[in-house]
Amino acid sequence: MISGSSRKWRVPALALFAIAICVGPTRIAIAAESGQEIFKSKCAACHTIGQGILVGPDLAGVTARRDEVWLKRQIKEPDVLLDENDPIAIQLLLEADDIPMPPPDLSDDEVAAVIDYLKSTEQQETVVIGLPAQYIPTLLIGAAALIALTVVGLRAGRKKVDVS
Ligand code: HEC
Repeated sequence: MISGSSRKWRVPALALFAIAICVGPTRIAIAAESGQEIFKSKCAACHTIGQGILVGPDLAGVTARRDEVWLKRQIKEPDVLLDENDPIAIQLLLEADDIPMPPPDLSDDEVAAVIDYLKSTEQQETVVIGLPAQYIPTLLIGAAALIALTVVGLRAGRKKVDVS
């Protein structure tokens, strides 16, 4: 049974939780979400992330494997990279049985959003290599919420013991 005192704490605890969940990751989440939409509508027909090769290569780990400037160009203007005889693009074309990736016609912002999304699917590796600055506020808020909830829990628990 929940005692009256811990029920009283529930509202502020939930409020803290809600703030922690909303404030920190919202910006990143919005960017990654629109990137995911773009990926679904413009890329997923030819690429998976971690589910193997379709028409184009599996994009799992691609943001770690490729230089960021190159990646932007490959996504925005793969045809130009090939025209320039870029060695990686030529190698990829060979591996894809000579099927070139058509330029997806994305704005710079959309390209950045897709790359953010690809990165967000690689959080695991990223966290191991080094914490990107953008996640630090989220982590701090998360840690603060955790501490606050622990304190709330301890107080509620102690009161319950007092009662019995
Ligand atoms: C019609 C199929 C097709 C679509 C749609 C497509 N790609 Fe590709 N993609 C390919 C092929 C084929 C290759 C390899 C040959 C080449 O680079 O031209 C490739 C290569 C790539 C590479 C290089 C992979 C590596 O290992 O370095 C990236 C990154 C990439 N695509 C991202 C995207 C993104 C992001 C989108 C959506 C905006 C997209 N592609 C849409 C077919 C496609």
